[in-house]
Amino acid sequence: MLKQLKSICEIALKDIEECQEIKQLNELRVKYLGKKGPIQEAMKMMKDLDTEARKELGLVSNETKFTISTAIENKQKELENLVIEEQLKNDFIDVTLPSRKRALGQAHLTNQIITEIEDLFIGMGYSIAEGPEIETDHYNFEMLNLPKGHPARDMQDSFYITEELLLRTHTSPVQARTMLKQGGKGPVKIICPGKVYRRDDDDATHSHQFFQIEGLVIDKNITMSDLKGTLEYFVKKIFGENREIRFRPSFFPFTEPSVEVDVTCAKCSGSGCSMCKNSGYIEILGAGMVHPDVLKMGGFDPEVYQGFAFGMGPERIAILKYGIDDIRQFYTNDLRFNNQFNLK
Ligand code: PHE
Repeated sequence: MLKQLKSICEIALKDIEECQEIKQLNELRVKYLGKKGPIQEAMKMMKDLDTEARKELGLVSNETKFTISTAIENKQKELENLVIEEQLKNDFIDVTLPSRKRALGQAHLTNQIITEIEDLFIGMGYSIAEGPEIETDHYNFEMLNLPKGHPARDMQDSFYITEELLLRTHTSPVQARTMLKQGGKGPVKIICPGKVYRRDDDDATHSHQFFQIEGLVIDKNITMSDLKGTLEYFVKKIFGENREIRFRPSFFPFTEPSVEVDVTCAKCSGSGCSMCKNSGYIEILGAGMVHPDVLKMGGFDPEVYQGFAFGMGPERIAILKYGIDDIRQFYTNDLRFNNQFNLK
């Protein structure tokens, strides 16, 4: 019996050694260590033996069982590692392959240009002021020297909600609101960016809704040259150091004197070409010295304080800066247009 166990052990070890698959190994486990296996069989015979022989058979069969199960366990680990290695080989990731590009969002060109202009003025000590888009006739017109029936009201065809409420036609009412908040005390140095609305038919150069950035400075001893220096700095920073500005007399009810500000044409630098209709200049914004009546209505003493104001359309600035041919591009959200302006 003992000899038999020894040879069974040898055969089992050989079988285990040669085994290639976990499934096959499980079968061997059942075959040698299972209830109907040779070791169990040997143990069943023990009851018929005398004490000495029983002891010996018990010892040997336990040893055999231990040897075989250890061998199976080791083999099992070996086979499992092989499976893992095989998997690692097949699942190999080539980290040097180029990755798929993820589409990242970005600020819209309108926001980019507004931010750029804001940053520029913040750098000059301005702060940002905002106001409501639904305005009263009072702030949108009256406080800006445009009493009811004033012909200049027609310059800004408006969307009225009621007799007294309208969608603001410009950001100038934020000037009026800011002045009142100051309680007659300077200095004021603000820019007011925001959406404005006019009853225009949309085409390449008009939109019923667009943006404006209003600027207002009030202090003692403010003159037209402060306005000119500020706008010159702004233009050179936005369009380039080689660009010049020119003031042309104009009219706004809330400024006196009023000017239209032009910048030298990007294409011909002032000599005249088709882009600037041979004038050498392109209009970029309206400005002027705050009208004494507007200062008074805003609570400032025009004998003590003076101010300048300007109003520009950021879309127009972007149009001139990047050569965009249709203002509707800003509002139709065609990604092919938007994605060209990933400027940051
Ligand atoms: N509010 C004017 C407009 O909408 C622009 C402007 C602002 C002009 C301030 C002069 C001074 O046309």
